[in-house]
Amino acid sequence: MPATIVLGAQWGDEGKGRVVDYFAESADYVVRYQGGNNAGHTIVVGEQRFALSLIPSGVMYPHCTPVIASGLVVDPKVLLEEIDMLTARNLDPSRLRVSSNAHLIMPYHRKLDAVMERYLGRNKIGTTKKGIGPAYTDKYARQGIRVQDLFDPRIFADKVEVALEEKNKILTRVYNQLPMDPQKIIDEYLSYADRLLPYVTDTSLLLAEGLARGEEVLFEGAQGTLLDIDHGTYPFVTSSNPTAGGAIIGSGIGPKAIDRIIGVAKAYISRVGTGPFPTELHDETGDRMIELGGEYGTVTGRRRRCGWLDLVALRYAVRVNSLTEIFLTKLDILSAFDTIKVAVAYQSLGQAYDEFPRQQRVLYNCTPVYETLPGWTTDISDVREYDDLPKEARAYIEFIEDRVGVPISWISVGPERHQLITRT
Ligand code: GDP
Ligand code: IMO
Ligand code: MG
Repeated sequence: MPATIVLGAQWGDEGKGRVVDYFAESADYVVRYQGGNNAGHTIVVGEQRFALSLIPSGVMYPHCTPVIASGLVVDPKVLLEEIDMLTARNLDPSRLRVSSNAHLIMPYHRKLDAVMERYLGRNKIGTTKKGIGPAYTDKYARQGIRVQDLFDPRIFADKVEVALEEKNKILTRVYNQLPMDPQKIIDEYLSYADRLLPYVTDTSLLLAEGLARGEEVLFEGAQGTLLDIDHGTYPFVTSSNPTAGGAIIGSGIGPKAIDRIIGVAKAYISRVGTGPFPTELHDETGDRMIELGGEYGTVTGRRRRCGWLDLVALRYAVRVNSLTEIFLTKLDILSAFDTIKVAVAYQSLGQAYDEFPRQQRVLYNCTPVYETLPGWTTDISDVREYDDLPKEARAYIEFIEDRVGVPISWISVGPERHQLITRT
């Protein structure tokens, strides 16, 4: 497998970190291609739990080169803190490579993210307030500052000064904030340059050379399909493309290099932040999913919203990503329920939708059409063979496969590396 993409098939937090950790065992490179430190990817190894926000999950293996490609927005302070955190925990991040073309998250991006959300009031997106949206806004407005600019102090200082001329007007006149001091930002960011320099390179070339040698490249998506700026539930999305196409654009590798696209889906579904969510549960069942699934944000600690698996949305994810397979996570959490519901269509104003609706308003006012399947109500966290799963659990998996049209090749039944059933 020369290049494989692993991405979220729902609204994020599907378990991508643990899935990438599994595949990274045989990968030479693990590449983040979009987003920034809005991600929170958890890996559990024995007693140890790692939460990574920026550095790709492949950092856990000494043979693997973690790559932060050009499609990301990088907060240099967070990156250095993550490097220090890993070093303190006896992992070696020295192989990390960071694209010189990646954009920087600046202090004014974080500030703007926070004040814009406050001004939106009840219409807010519920962002992670890490500056992601404002940093991508500047990138597309061609006003961004890139990693490579850090190594040319004069250019860097000029760019910060130009940017702050405008940002300070926005901060003071629109949002009633104090202006930010350009020199303070310049001094802070230039102080990171020496430490970052050894990691910075042309990551597109690095990956192309690796692929030419027959090495294996694994792309690690952040967020999820329904949070995609183009294909998600806009405007309640993130500002990048977590979908498969994003891996191509965000890494500078052509589409022909990709041969597998694995969608990670939870056996139920969750969302953090605002926005439509047809199968959301506001009852005791939802509360149990949240508590049993530990559904609290890795980045912000926010309580995630939870609901039954949505096959309309999952089929959509299969389509927009050309998924070849699905990795189903957290099946163990469903052991607590006597019956399990799955949304197979939506109903709105007398009309049925079995494809993801084109009109956003349908997502708000639709009612899911559920099929109810029997639960298995036994602990499955020690099961390692597919055939040893209770027949109701197998029926649930096969029902999903049948409806979405791609195989579920892996099923995880606990957060640890070995709590996994492989079907291939
Ligand atoms: P990501 O953002 O997609 O990497 O997912 P998160 O790490 O934010 O959230 C997934 C959570 O579920 C983490 O706490 C994982 O340790 C945990 N997890 C992953 N797979 C399983 C599983 O199969 N069963 C259980 N019980 N927990 C899991
Ligand atoms: P991982 O990679 C879940 C959500 C935020 C908000 C919206 C926009 O761990 O799955 P942003 O800060 O990106 O501008 O926020 O996107 N969001 C996530 N939700 N998992 C994530 O990452 C997320 N990253 C952003 O809650 O609704
Ligand atoms: Mg997460």
